[in-house]
Amino acid sequence: MRIDILTLFPQMFQSPFSVGIFQRAVEQKLVSINTYNIRDYTHDAHHTVDDYAYGGGAGMILKPEPIFEAVEAIISEVHPKEGTSDRESDVLPIILLTPQGRLFSQEIAYELSGYRCLILICGRYEGVDERVRQQLATDEISIGDYVLSGGELAAMVVIDAVVRLLPGVLGSEASLVEDSHTFGLLEYPQYTRPAAYRGWSVPDVLLSGNHAQIAKWRREQAILRTLERRPELLDKASLSSEEKQLIDR
Ligand code: ADE
Repeated sequence: MRIDILTLFPQMFQSPFSVGIFQRAVEQKLVSINTYNIRDYTHDAHHTVDDYAYGGGAGMILKPEPIFEAVEAIISEVHPKEGTSDRESDVLPIILLTPQGRLFSQEIAYELSGYRCLILICGRYEGVDERVRQQLATDEISIGDYVLSGGELAAMVVIDAVVRLLPGVLGSEASLVEDSHTFGLLEYPQYTRPAAYRGWSVPDVLLSGNHAQIAKWRREQAILRTLERRPELLDKASLSSEEKQLIDR
């Protein structure tokens, strides 16, 4: 997957993707992450990227021209064929990170992981000219109902959640299946050695070696934990009739 990021602060993206699974994924060419400074697409001597809001109000608004020009430059340089193909995998999402976007989720992470390329636009200051939303972005994503000082951290969150889903990025694909949220449930409790620590013991069933019993216990624990902490998630989770009884108890 190729990810192109438009930002006023490319340096923010250096360290998060140069460690751990990302470093490996980049080295193995499973993903390439490229940053573009929006300021490089201005034409005036001061490299102006923002301006006052029409109609007044506090705060500066990111101007449309450098953002449009940056996206158009990326498309003509690296995606010249995009837009001419009907294939689903050739569609190029142009995603604006904004608190007004659709709320990011594991489901959206899976959806985005199916594309070959993504363009992410990080907003800053008080907002982005509305024409960027209407005429350029194909999608808008928020990572939560709070306001960050810019879209950069949100872009990193989205990239992290998407890249770890790409084939070959995680050592073991099985660990994806067990993640919290993969089946609409929180993950079951996990333990490692020692079997007893300060008098707190690992549940006997996990030491039993009985894989069927362990799987049953884990599934029950995932359901009970979801019921306790995030009951609204259970509305969408697919549960057997036996499992539904567990939550009705
Ligand atoms: N930019 C500022 N706040 C944001 C949020 N919550 N999600 C995505 N982008 C943002």
